[in-house]
Amino acid sequence: MSFAVPANAYDQFMGRFSGPLAGHFAAWLRLAPGQRVLDVGCGPGALTAILVAKLGTDSVSAIDPSESFVTAARERMPGVDVRCGAAEALPWPDEAFDCAAAQLVVHLMADPPAGISEMARVTRPGGTVAATVWDFAGGATPVSTFWRAAQEVVPTAPGEADLPGAHEGHLVNLLRQARLGDIESGLLEVSLRFSSFEQWWKPFTLGVGPSGSYLAGLDDDRRAAVRDTCARLLPPGPFTMSVRSWAARGRVLTKACRSLLQQETSGARRVLARQ
Ligand SMILES: C[S@@+](CC[C@H](N)C(=O)[O-])C[C@H]1O[C@@H](n2cnc3c(N)ncnc32)[C@H](O)[C@@H]1O
Repeated sequence: MSFAVPANAYDQFMGRFSGPLAGHFAAWLRLAPGQRVLDVGCGPGALTAILVAKLGTDSVSAIDPSESFVTAARERMPGVDVRCGAAEALPWPDEAFDCAAAQLVVHLMADPPAGISEMARVTRPGGTVAATVWDFAGGATPVSTFWRAAQEVVPTAPGEADLPGAHEGHLVNLLRQARLGDIESGLLEVSLRFSSFEQWWKPFTLGVGPSGSYLAGLDDDRRAAVRDTCARLLPPGPFTMSVRSWAARGRVLTKACRSLLQQETSGARRVLARQ
């Protein structure tokens, strides 16, 4: 797994962007004092920490499949209920939370519709399910220059632009599939200043995430070529990198509303099938 890495490697690589993003995402969740929230795919705790500051230790739970991240999140936020596991099988009962949020996780889930359905299951009717995923398709993400360079060097390099949630409207569709109501979408932006190219590049060599593990799997010559191509594509330091993340949130409907919606959808399908 590309996230079986020490938490401080993650902090240097993605945490530098996901920390500021978490501030915007948490504000966008419109949480109220006294609410209980679940951070799905918490990593070492960028969003968890902000949720704890807003709502208090007892009101926040978190989960991630990476053992090193779970250990770090527990150490960083003592008393928070941090568990090891995946979005697709959440170990909490139905309607346990007012909000379930996933920051930079849906594109990595083995089964995003199942993960979002689980988030809806553990959220009470009227509560919020929300997710944010970098705008990979739009090319303004912390790793876009890397993948552009990798594909110049190795034309078959995969990239992340086709992952679930990476295009405008993807997250909205996933929330709709999970039969959430009042779905809204937004675009969150983060800008980071780098003093030099090396400051941006070095964390890619730590093996974190899909890009870091792809780089680690290349031979020395190709690794050097990807680095040199990135240096050519980026402005000379110091420079500012602005990145964007799609966000979507929806309201959990009552069971009665959900089954009505299901009947209407099946009815509409039958009408369409007859036409
Ligand atoms: C890019 S990191 C985001 C971490 C944190 N939310 C943040 O914003 O810094 C992606 C995280 O998703 C976790 N992850 C991967 N697959 C997952 C799944 N199926 N369910 C929950 N989390 C998952 C990884 O272990 C990793 O910690």
